[in-house]
Amino acid sequence: MTVTLAFDVYGTLIDTHGVVTALQALVGEKAQDFSQTWRDKQLEYSFRRGLMQNYVNFATCTSQALDYTCAYYQVDFSEKQRASLLGIYKVLPAFKDVKETLLQLKATDFRLFAFSNGSSDALEELLTAAGIRDCFLGVISVDDLKSFKPNPGVYSYFLRKSETTGNCAWLISSNPFDVIGAISAGMKSAWVQRSPTAIFDPWEIKPTLIVKSLTKLSEKITAWEAVT
Ligand code: LAC
Repeated sequence: MTVTLAFDVYGTLIDTHGVVTALQALVGEKAQDFSQTWRDKQLEYSFRRGLMQNYVNFATCTSQALDYTCAYYQVDFSEKQRASLLGIYKVLPAFKDVKETLLQLKATDFRLFAFSNGSSDALEELLTAAGIRDCFLGVISVDDLKSFKPNPGVYSYFLRKSETTGNCAWLISSNPFDVIGAISAGMKSAWVQRSPTAIFDPWEIKPTLIVKSLTKLSEKITAWEAVT
């Protein structure tokens, strides 16, 4: 059986806190908290847009979340500063373990896809800037469906587009809501626990596998598939 791997992008391959250095120049020691609030709000907006069926693309969620975060921390960025932050968001860096692992995986039988809330154009730019676009057979965006993760429809769409089925496909994600969404929609999923303090939601749905980084992913999935 050929196994398909769907890599979540923001937070899993790409470090959404890559804006912290630029934020330090603007908000000083609040930079880390500012970045976290921005990310949390961006995701909340995507969830709410999905539920309301009032779609705007992920970049709009990001931009509106930035405005919310400025209001929350009572800071006022100039138009230039705001544009500069949103520009950095388009070319955020990959985590350290990403490129080498993807290059190794590409040389195996696994079929690799990027699968994200970001629009296709945004993903192409981001993954190309990080030097990892060519590791994937394809880039699949929820934007085609005008909805967001964890709508079960977006995971079905991924399976259809990548020409596979849930029992042959794994979502690889550091975002617990994404892991839970994929498993709930019939896929298998590895949770990448990027920080020891990251908490997996205590629901009745558990990750198929947990890894601390991408390095051991191939080994662990191969072992899992061999015994089941
Ligand atoms: C993504 C979100 C979950 O890349 O960050 O799909």
